[in-house]
Amino acid sequence: MSSELSPIDTAKFVAAKQACEYVESGMKVGLGTGSTAAWLVQCLGEMVREEGLKIRGVPTSSRTAKLARDVGIEVITLDEARWLDVTIDGADEYDDDLCLIKGGGGAHLQEKVVATASDRMIVIADASKKVDTLGAFPLPIEVLQFGAGITENLVIETLRSMDVLGHGVSQRMAGTEPFITDEGNFIFDLHLKRIGNPRQLSAMLNQIPGVVENGLFIDICDVVIVGQANGHVEVRDITNDTREVVRFDVRDDDNIFADLSD
Ligand code: 5RP
Repeated sequence: MSSELSPIDTAKFVAAKQACEYVESGMKVGLGTGSTAAWLVQCLGEMVREEGLKIRGVPTSSRTAKLARDVGIEVITLDEARWLDVTIDGADEYDDDLCLIKGGGGAHLQEKVVATASDRMIVIADASKKVDTLGAFPLPIEVLQFGAGITENLVIETLRSMDVLGHGVSQRMAGTEPFITDEGNFIFDLHLKRIGNPRQLSAMLNQIPGVVENGLFIDICDVVIVGQANGHVEVRDITNDTREVVRFDVRDDDNIFADLSD
């Protein structure tokens, strides 16, 4: 096991490495956002540079676009791609039905558009992301800056009739300024603690005019790949109802971030 990688990075790395098995030359690949997805982009970049893998990537954020270009992946827009073979992304929470909360990195709008335009979506995660019931992680919603205060009131009103345990709403900040998404919108984080009916909540939130998109991903994810610090990876595919465990030997030279500046 690598002395360079922390246990959590080892878990993310092995999940990302296993996800690369789903990527073949000629594919158009949706590239997620976040620390786990960054491992995936690194791994794919290495395959492009060293194994001649030929893929085109559609990033889900400006951060991922920069990283993908830096590691040698050809980047195209979603409109240029039109349709994707696979999207691989992280998640903040996933449940038994592979419903997700996403948007911890503020990119769930593009992530949902890209994942929905893909033949399959694969989530890569460490085991801490598995929950029995969604909602401990605050649910992000992306809202228009225009009338954001009105939208917030409507969200609070909507939550009153939803099957959720908490009702807190906070605006995401970047230091002392509001966090602004790649699309120029705000993020509100909903502190719900427990979401009894994710499908209903997602539909209701998206009916509020100022809400652009919420971070619930329902019936979008097909496969979840969960890495562990000991190098074990569990692959669960709900399209054919299979579970498989793979074991990786993580070498010292697997820290492919080591020579990259942030
Ligand atoms: C970004 C996301 C990320 O996929 C999610 O926040 C997980 O991130 P990480 O892999 O860093 O834990 O949804 O909007």
